[in-house]
Amino acid sequence: MNVGFIGLGIMGSRMAANLIRSGFRLRVHNRTQEKAHGLAAEWCESPANAARKADVLFTMLSTPEAVQETAFGERGFLPALVEDAVWVDSSTVHPSFSRHMAGECRKRGIHFLDAPVAGSKGPAETGDLVFLVGGDAAVVERCAPLFEAMGKAHRHFGANGAGTSIKMVVNLLLGHAMAGFAEGLALGESLGISRSTLLEVLLGAPVTAPFLQAKRSKVENDAYEADFPLQWMHKDLHLAALTAYEQGLALPGLQAVKEIFAMARRRGLGEKDFSAVCRLLQETRR
Ligand SMILES: NC(=O)c1ccc[n+]([C@@H]2O[C@H](COP(=O)([O-])OP(=O)(O)OC[C@H]3O[C@@H](n4cnc5c(N)ncnc54)[C@H](OP(=O)(O)O)[C@@H]3O)[C@@H](O)[C@H]2O)c1
Repeated sequence: MNVGFIGLGIMGSRMAANLIRSGFRLRVHNRTQEKAHGLAAEWCESPANAARKADVLFTMLSTPEAVQETAFGERGFLPALVEDAVWVDSSTVHPSFSRHMAGECRKRGIHFLDAPVAGSKGPAETGDLVFLVGGDAAVVERCAPLFEAMGKAHRHFGANGAGTSIKMVVNLLLGHAMAGFAEGLALGESLGISRSTLLEVLLGAPVTAPFLQAKRSKVENDAYEADFPLQWMHKDLHLAALTAYEQGLALPGLQAVKEIFAMARRRGLGEKDFSAVCRLLQETRR
């Protein structure tokens, strides 16, 4: 099977490495070429080149705009894919965008799966991601060996857009939990409770989301090297808000949480881990 991979950031570079480790021969492209250094894959000068010989092409890009540009821009990959090829978009994008991309593929006789992932830098490295998949069951089956090389599970939720639908829900909860924890920490410290006591009491307690345990050393040391960049959490909350609008749904809490991440981004924390909202809220104290 010829596999193409576009987008070698924090997640994509590790996912591509796991495909190579499982014996797949990869042709890769990334906007910034240096990120492909060290990968035992064939470098392609453009998205179109990475797509040309691919039976399956993966994309792992930051935003819907980045996917759009890479697919349809100059030397974009979509016109270069051959009929019956599969494009798997693992980027976190919103469901209406996934459905639109599926339509563009259908016009060209190309199969499309939306397959965003649950799990961060660590699981991407160890091959423990969970793929949340939308699309045709037979196509999902065709891609199963690739999902298995990069993840511990792939779950098929229905037609195109179903994978990114569940991902929107997951990341809405992720943003709420992170922002809530940061507010709890800020209130506790203002009352004179030490950070170490707060972490000891809160982490592992029923009121605290389990994923926060993995953020302990970042919060303890106020050192927020990105596993999941804050700017992409903000983007996901924006996409969830956009989706709520499309659904005619009011989600006032989501809007408030989204603005906390917008403020953090404006404070220059966009490329830090999303747990850096803890620093933002600490700084708001008089
Ligand atoms: N990190 C996580 O924990 C995590 C977990 C689950 C899902 N995700 C999602 O996975 C996706 C990738 O996240 P990441 O953490 O790997 O982010 P990242 O390290 O910032 O990587 C982003 C990738 O998108 C590319 N890109 C951005 N804008 C582009 C453009 N206009 N044209 C072409 N390429 C462009 C970047 O290219 P350059 O290298 O040239 O900048 C890079 O390859 C995002 O949708 C994110 O929400 C992330």
